[in-house]
Amino acid sequence: MTGTRTPARKRRTALLAASTLVAGVLGAGGLMQGTAAAAPACTVDYTVVNDWGSGFTASVTVTNNATSTLSNWRVEWDYAGNQKAGQAWNATVSQDGAHVTASAPSWNSTLSAGGSANFGFNGVYSGSNPKPTTFKLNGTTCNVDVQDPDIPDEPDDPTDPPPRGDRVDNPYAGAKVYVNPDWSAQAARSGGRAISNQPTAVWLDRISAIESGSAGENTMGLRDHLDEALEQDADVIQIVTYNLPGRDCAALASQGELGPNEIDRYKREFIDPIAEIVGDPKYAGLRIVNIVEIDSLPNLVTNVGSRATATPQCDEMLANGNYVKGVGYNLATLGQYDNVYNYIDIGHHGWLGWDDNFGASADMLYKAATSEGATVDDVAGFAANVANYGALKEPHFTINDTVNGTSVRQSKWVDWNRYVDEQSYAQAFRQEAVRAGFRSDVGVIIDTSRNGWGGPNRPTAPAAKTNVDSFVENSRIDRRIHTGNWCNQAGAGLGERPKAAPASGIDAYAWIKPPGESDGASEDIPNDEGKRADQMCDPDYGGNARNNNNKSGALPGAPVSGHWFQAQFEELLRNAYPPIN
Ligand code: BGC
Repeated sequence: MTGTRTPARKRRTALLAASTLVAGVLGAGGLMQGTAAAAPACTVDYTVVNDWGSGFTASVTVTNNATSTLSNWRVEWDYAGNQKAGQAWNATVSQDGAHVTASAPSWNSTLSAGGSANFGFNGVYSGSNPKPTTFKLNGTTCNVDVQDPDIPDEPDDPTDPPPRGDRVDNPYAGAKVYVNPDWSAQAARSGGRAISNQPTAVWLDRISAIESGSAGENTMGLRDHLDEALEQDADVIQIVTYNLPGRDCAALASQGELGPNEIDRYKREFIDPIAEIVGDPKYAGLRIVNIVEIDSLPNLVTNVGSRATATPQCDEMLANGNYVKGVGYNLATLGQYDNVYNYIDIGHHGWLGWDDNFGASADMLYKAATSEGATVDDVAGFAANVANYGALKEPHFTINDTVNGTSVRQSKWVDWNRYVDEQSYAQAFRQEAVRAGFRSDVGVIIDTSRNGWGGPNRPTAPAAKTNVDSFVENSRIDRRIHTGNWCNQAGAGLGERPKAAPASGIDAYAWIKPPGESDGASEDIPNDEGKRADQMCDPDYGGNARNNNNKSGALPGAPVSGHWFQAQFEELLRNAYPPIN
């Protein structure tokens, strides 16, 4: 593909100009130009409380103005003079040349949304003692107005990174999203007429799906979908590229057709043909959201090496580098087209929300996004909770709640995770990714297809604060047995309907996993897709290290992943939240 890169981009640039202009206007919604400057992401107040000519005492207050909690806060600045920071309190302060880093103490390591921390230190200097002018909180510059990352294409924002070709900031803003007729018809004839006009993603889950549709009832190939999207006059189509070598290394349910070493087939027989179709100039006016390789990169962080959760297959995929190469090639090859918006999968809060997994995953994604010719400019953002069940927002408690002085983090359910729901996780991961080197205008898509948790078992108010476990157990709307459970979860319902720019840093709520399609077979069913029965899809299974040895919580009688599962679809309809009216 390399040979075609430059001409292709040029060609698309010309063709897209007209439609992008329209999108820019639409995307601004009701906002007047230039009125959208928002508050700084963080504020740092640095005060010299005492100065005796050769030394000083400083007091620093940092405030997190973002809407999500920040873990392991870290404030940085540079001195213009020869100041040297010394003994400190309420933070660990270190200095390298003129550069000072103040890191959170272990007993006060999080900054909630709107929360502040104060620390102080003594320093020495000779000459003058000018106050530093620029401060960063976990990599983000403080005390300067930033614009809401949701508000697309605000003109002349000095904090915006340079545009990525002709792309808009948020492809969903003001856009009509493509409805997959295969899924729509299946949903309508299965009792789901009321929701059958919702947009869902098209999964390219094997080579033959490019021509003739993904697993199960789906029959349309990629070209059919793109042509139909033009027919529908859609602005956006969502595809999932899901066919890495050695796919699904930590489970059996979605193992694929390519062996662990078949990276060349992935490139030549899967990505290149997709690029060939996507690159057809007749689709240049369509924004193509490409959701990249679910679960793959997080598996290389959490399920390898000496971890109790490690699998030999994930160790192999880490060692041979084929997930990283595959993702890099996918991003670079599809990213050559200015109408493609690549979103890399970031698992979900019940997987990467622990400190050991969080930053390391952002770093792993960065590594993939800068391999095989890809750059961070090929990345529009990230996709959270794809095909998972994590609650979008826990309405009755937050991570900052305590019960008799004990943090909810210490409850059995939260188990020291930093997040209790997907939105807070997605917003925090976005910031972490920027820290890791991604562009500051990245956004997150949250899959809300099956995380509604309505129905009779949904708590309607916070529980009594008797003890931390009973409080969390009886307050949480996510009714799973364990946050590590992922297969055909009993009790789940359809979640928020697809929506553009619903919250800061979130590009969209989207239905990526088509509701009604199975996550995996409860028992072995012969198939030609490489899929096997994973015990996590068997309701009688007692669990493994990845769900802390809990029951699987799966519905019985499930077909192979991707195939229609009528009983689950009916339950998703019944337990929808917001309910279906
Ligand atoms: C399956 C795919 C399917 C997708 C969407 C995955 O679990 O492995 O074959 O297309 O779900 O249902």
